[in-house]
Amino acid sequence: MSDIRSTYTDSLNFYGSHTPLELAETYGTPLYIYNEGILRERCRDLMTLTSHPGFGVNYSVKANANPALLRIIRQEGLVVDAMSPGELFMDELAGFTAGEILYISNNNSPEELQNALAHGLLVSVDSLSQLDALGRLNRGGKVMVRFNPGIGAGHHAKVITAGKETKFGVTPDKMDEVFALLAEHRMTLAGINQHIGSLFMEPDGYLEAAAVLLHLAQSLPGNALEKLEIIDFGGGFGIPYRKYEQQPRLDLAELGRRLHELLSGWARKTGYAGRFLIEPGRYVAAECGVLLGRVHAVKNNGDKRYVGTDLGFNVLVRPAMYDSFHDLEIYRRPGERAPSQEPQLQTVVGNICESGDILAKDRLLPVMREGDVLGVLDAGAYGFVMASNYNQRRLPAEVLIQSNGTARLIRRRETLEDLARGFAGL
Ligand code: LLP
Repeated sequence: MSDIRSTYTDSLNFYGSHTPLELAETYGTPLYIYNEGILRERCRDLMTLTSHPGFGVNYSVKANANPALLRIIRQEGLVVDAMSPGELFMDELAGFTAGEILYISNNNSPEELQNALAHGLLVSVDSLSQLDALGRLNRGGKVMVRFNPGIGAGHHAKVITAGKETKFGVTPDKMDEVFALLAEHRMTLAGINQHIGSLFMEPDGYLEAAAVLLHLAQSLPGNALEKLEIIDFGGGFGIPYRKYEQQPRLDLAELGRRLHELLSGWARKTGYAGRFLIEPGRYVAAECGVLLGRVHAVKNNGDKRYVGTDLGFNVLVRPAMYDSFHDLEIYRRPGERAPSQEPQLQTVVGNICESGDILAKDRLLPVMREGDVLGVLDAGAYGFVMASNYNQRRLPAEVLIQSNGTARLIRRRETLEDLARGFAGL
C-alpha cells in the first residue's frame, strides 16, 4: 500500500479502484469523497432497527444535502426532512415527492411556510406563533407540532436541542393553547415530533425521551390520538469518531430491540396504527465521507510542530466550532517515504487567517511532511453543508466512489466566477 496510516480505509476498501493520492491529483484538494456502499449500509442499519409496522426513517438532510447521495438514500427507502426552501429544492432534485418530505423547521417567514404548503408538505411548527401563522395560511389543513420533552442530549452545548435551555419546541404545559389555536384554525394535529440533540452513544436517553413523547401522545385532549398519523422521535444517533482507538459503536441491536418493545407495547395499548419515525442525519451520512487535503508546509513554533494544510475551517468547521475530534489518515507514495521515524505530537492547521483554524490538536501521528495527502475520517455529515467561502476560498468538489469501485464527480469545485456570481452593479 502507498500509505503510512490507512488501515481504517484499507479495511473497507473505501477508495474502491482508486487511491487517495490519485483522487487528490485528479480532482484537486480539498476534496470530499463519499463511498456509496457505506452509505447504503448505514441506511439499512436504521431501516431494520425494528420491524414494527409503520416504522420508518426520516433522513435529516441538514447533515448532507448532495442530491446524488439523496438519490441513494431514497433508493434505500428512507424519507427526508426539509427545513428551508433550499433543502426542499435539494430533496425534489433528488426525486423525493411531497408524501416523502416532512417540513421540520423553526422561525419561518410566512413566505417560507407558504412555499412548503404550495409543495404539498406537512409542516411541523415549533412555537405557538408559528402554529398561528400556519393556521392563517392553511385553515382546515393538517399540521405537526414539535414538542420539547424537557430532556436534552448531545456532544456539545451547541447541539443540545431539548430541555429548558434551548430555543426549540413547544413545552407540554402549552397544550391548551396549542389546541385552542388548532380549533381556531380548524386544523388537525396530524403529527408530533421532537429532537433532543445530536450524538448520543448510549440508547437510554433517546428511549426515555421517546417514552415521554408517547406519554404525551396518549394524553392529548379528546380524540386527538385517533387523528395522529405520525410520531417522530428525532435524530441524534451517534457514530464513533475515534476510529483508531477502536471506540465502540452505538449498540443499534439493543436500541432496536428496546424501541421495538416500546412501540409495539404502546401501539397495542392505545390502538395507534400510524407511523413511527426516527430522524437521523449524522448516522446516515458521516461515515461514508472522507475529506482529502494536502500538506503544504510544516514548521516548529516554540515546542509545537505545526502541519499546514488546505483543510481550513472554511472546509470543515466542526473542530473549530465544537472542538470535534476527527481521526486522520496520511497517504504517501512508497518511493517518497521517509525513513521510519517515531510518531510525534503534531497540530494540523488550515490556511485561514485565524488562530482558531485548527483541525487536529497535539495528535500523536507519523511525522507529516509537505506533499502528503491527509484523509479526515467521518466527514460526510455536517462537513460540506457547513463549508463557507470565508477568506474567499472556493467550496470544494465532491466525488462518489460508486458500488462498482469507480469514482464519479458529483459536485465540481467552485470557480472564481462562482465567487462573483451574486454581485450586483459590477
Ligand atoms: N432533526 C432535527 C430537527 C435536527 O435539528 C437535527 C439536527 C436532526 C434531526 C439530525 O440530528 P443528527 O441525527 O444528525 O444528530 N452541526 C452539528 C450537528 C447539528 C445538528 C443539528 N440538528 C455537528 O456537526 O455535530
